[in-house]
Amino acid sequence: MSKVSALYPGSFDPPTNGHLDLIERGAKIFEELVVGILRNTEKSPMFSLAERLEMLKTLTAHLKNVRIEAFHGLMVEYAKSIDATCVLRGIRAVSDYEYELQMALMNRKLEPTLETVFMMPADKYSYVSSRLVREVAQIGGPVKGLVPEVVEQKLREKLEPAYKFHDEMQEATARSSGAKEKKRKRRV
Ligand code: PNS
Repeated sequence: MSKVSALYPGSFDPPTNGHLDLIERGAKIFEELVVGILRNTEKSPMFSLAERLEMLKTLTAHLKNVRIEAFHGLMVEYAKSIDATCVLRGIRAVSDYEYELQMALMNRKLEPTLETVFMMPADKYSYVSSRLVREVAQIGGPVKGLVPEVVEQKLREKLEPAYKFHDEMQEATARSSGAKEKKRKRRV
């Protein structure tokens, strides 16, 4: 059988544990896996392309058949340019299916020789998405366990004021409930 090279395209803004889980699974079944980060010109991403490249390179350094690259334009054209014969996409829940099916069929129309392969990340990541991670982190909320530690650190650096404010509020709430509890105990 000939060597199967796959492309795992996405925004990865930021990479999550779900993405990493899928990359590890993909690396086991494809001879070569290229993680293609979309150089997104329409949306303004939280992490620059350089930051996403750096994070993903660090996270996949242990996987010798995985390469991290950036691309722009049509995904199918990029896949062809790197000789990928498969596109890997993750499906977490039924809700992903409709969008993914539409995209896979459009890509098949554009390039009939390119196959889309769907894989499921571990069920513990089935609710994890970059969008929700960004939303939680922007309010200074905890993202431990949802993203790799390197990403968590980067989010903390980027959103330092939000984390500081959130931590101060938590401390203030803890102090005030502690004081209320003391008062209550004195009364009884
Ligand atoms: O991580 P995402 O944002 O769900 O990934 C979406 C991505 C990058 C795979 C998709 O938007 C894409 O392939 N964009 C490149 C432009 C393209 O080929 N569009 C046609 C898709 S049918």
